[in-house]
Amino acid sequence: MSSSTVITNIATLVTNDPSLGDGSPLGLVQDAAVVIDGDRVVWTGESSKAPATDNRVDAGGRAVLPGFVDSHSHLVFAGDRTQEFNARMSGRSYTAGGIRTTVAATRAASDAELEANLTRYLTEALRQGTTTFETKSGYGLTVEDESRALRLAAKHTDEVTYLGAHIVSPDYADDPAAYVDLVTGEMLDACAPHARWIDVFCEKGAFDGDQARAILTAGKAKGLHPRIHANQLSYGPGVQLAVELDAASADHCTHLTDADVDALAHSDTVATLLPGAEFSTRAEWPDARRLLDAGVTVALSTDCNPGSSFTSSVPFCIALAVRDMRMTPDEAVWSATAGGAAALRRTDIGRLTPGARADLTLLDAPSHVHLAYRPGVPLVSGVWRKGVRVV
Ligand code: NIG
Ligand code: FE
Repeated sequence: MSSSTVITNIATLVTNDPSLGDGSPLGLVQDAAVVIDGDRVVWTGESSKAPATDNRVDAGGRAVLPGFVDSHSHLVFAGDRTQEFNARMSGRSYTAGGIRTTVAATRAASDAELEANLTRYLTEALRQGTTTFETKSGYGLTVEDESRALRLAAKHTDEVTYLGAHIVSPDYADDPAAYVDLVTGEMLDACAPHARWIDVFCEKGAFDGDQARAILTAGKAKGLHPRIHANQLSYGPGVQLAVELDAASADHCTHLTDADVDALAHSDTVATLLPGAEFSTRAEWPDARRLLDAGVTVALSTDCNPGSSFTSSVPFCIALAVRDMRMTPDEAVWSATAGGAAALRRTDIGRLTPGARADLTLLDAPSHVHLAYRPGVPLVSGVWRKGVRVV
């Protein structure tokens, strides 16, 4: 039998339900309480009206928000790319080529090493308030190494993405078409049972629009849902393709034409912005304001990977999004919670309303605005995942 717990004395509660509290998209309730029963939220509202429960936790006049939904990461890898980062900070530019370094290290690593790495970054993320994460393969690029990455990832999350099409495998450098055949054939057969999603890096130096369409279409035929690395380093067909194939998300979205923005605004495809990547590659910021003002649904995620964005911190990405991408603190917090849920086509997470999964983050601050207002400060002081306090 499950027991119920009330978290009370919450100064600011982010529900992400506009019908609650102040009526804003965040559905902010002041002096609030949340009741958890088992792994679900069963009640949210003003503290004074909270129903009786078995247990009581005093939030001490601090803020509670839904656990972060990090809908884009690459956590199955070995090694790091410190030298490449150093060279970039001395003026070299980022290219997809560095991925090959991580592919070599990942292939050489044992399952135990890969899983120890994965667990380490997941623990980091959890401590910073992430309660749901998506993660991808993409550093194996053989049938065995891609399927092993997905098998290991699936032990830790339901949101697993097959990214055999990260770059053309170095083993097929002379015959990219044969690699696309492998990714859409034998590799897909081996990987599909372990994954929910299929992704492709649609970019110069990776896969062009026709190859990306063939890869995502083959994945769809196997029951995988598409998402896509689109328009990160240059203008290109990725975003339009994402919309055409009803991808859950087009990720990066740094170089967009008006037609790209318009296509996203009239679709169910979320634009997932990854400011950690622009930070770590010294690239120009995605134009979040342009997307939001056009009515596009925007998610905010870490893109945690050893090459372009080696951060597992959603709070850091929120601070960047507010300072450098001109999102308001409310927009950034929404995008890192409800936005991430939308990018994963999930309705059970990213909100704190009856029936939602009891994934909560308690901040050592009176409001969610402090995530951007106090950048770099470890404000997460409590995390509940599926109703269990884990931090
Ligand atoms: O999302 N853009 C492609 N993939 C990753 C980077 C991978 C790497 O550099 O290792 C990204 O930024
Ligand atoms: Fe990525």
